Amino acid sequence: MVSLYENIRKTSAFLKRRIKDFAPEIVLVLGSGLGGFTSNVDVRYRISYKTITGFPKTKNVAGHAGELIFGKICGKKVVLMAGRFHAYQGFSLQEVTFPIRVLRQLGPDILIVTNAAGGLNRNFNVGDLMLITDQINAMGTTPLVGMHDERLGPQFLPMTEAYDKRLRMIVKKAAAKSKIKLQEGTYIALIGPTYETPAEAKMYRSFGDAVGMSTVPEVIVANHMGMKVIGISCITNVHDGRNIPSHEEVMEAGKKSSKRFQRLVTNIIDSI
Ligand code: HPA
Repeated sequence: MVSLYENIRKTSAFLKRRIKDFAPEIVLVLGSGLGGFTSNVDVRYRISYKTITGFPKTKNVAGHAGELIFGKICGKKVVLMAGRFHAYQGFSLQEVTFPIRVLRQLGPDILIVTNAAGGLNRNFNVGDLMLITDQINAMGTTPLVGMHDERLGPQFLPMTEAYDKRLRMIVKKAAAKSKIKLQEGTYIALIGPTYETPAEAKMYRSFGDAVGMSTVPEVIVANHMGMKVIGISCITNVHDGRNIPSHEEVMEAGKKSSKRFQRLVTNIIDSI
């Protein structure tokens, strides 16, 4: 049987041939609301997921999976994941995190993850941006279960500083400099695709500040591979017991915050 490690090497070799000597320093995962961010990139290469050997195959015929965009932002070499794979689409967490594992082989040691999330903290408003300070994995499994392979990372992984402290300081300074209000808190990941019941929201509120359906698996493998992580959530809805969350509301709020979100991420990349 071909190991995960060998598949990672095969796909990264495929990408290396496509991008030649371009060596990204940062991986940026674009969540809902940050789609427009690609216009800030001085693009060198665009590679559609469906043409990448070994990338998970989208199970939804109508949905388009996304693309990798290699280019420069503020003079820094970056690779963007425009589109990600979710557990709620039926992908295993190994499939969800496969692109991060592959991109790490190209050299970057910083991961910036962004997402849309529901606000649990009573002080949060729709449109707020939240710096993720810590996470709770409520997905019921992790991308590290299964055969241990030392070439991927350690078997028992400390997650004490899953979101790098020094980088968090840089993010806070970048936000202050650009006069962008930044909330902070713990992100809880659930498998979805159901939104939370009022009872669930109440329970999770006692654990954390925002809830979503992504990010945590990617952050686990990034830590497993020794990357430093920044995470930012866009609060697209709030769980106040009255509001009924919907996909439309999430997308609409994401769109409204998009310019501010883009400005913040650009300033972060500039400050790193
Ligand atoms: N719950 C889970 N995921 C989400 C939410 C939410 O309220 N909003 C955006 N993604």
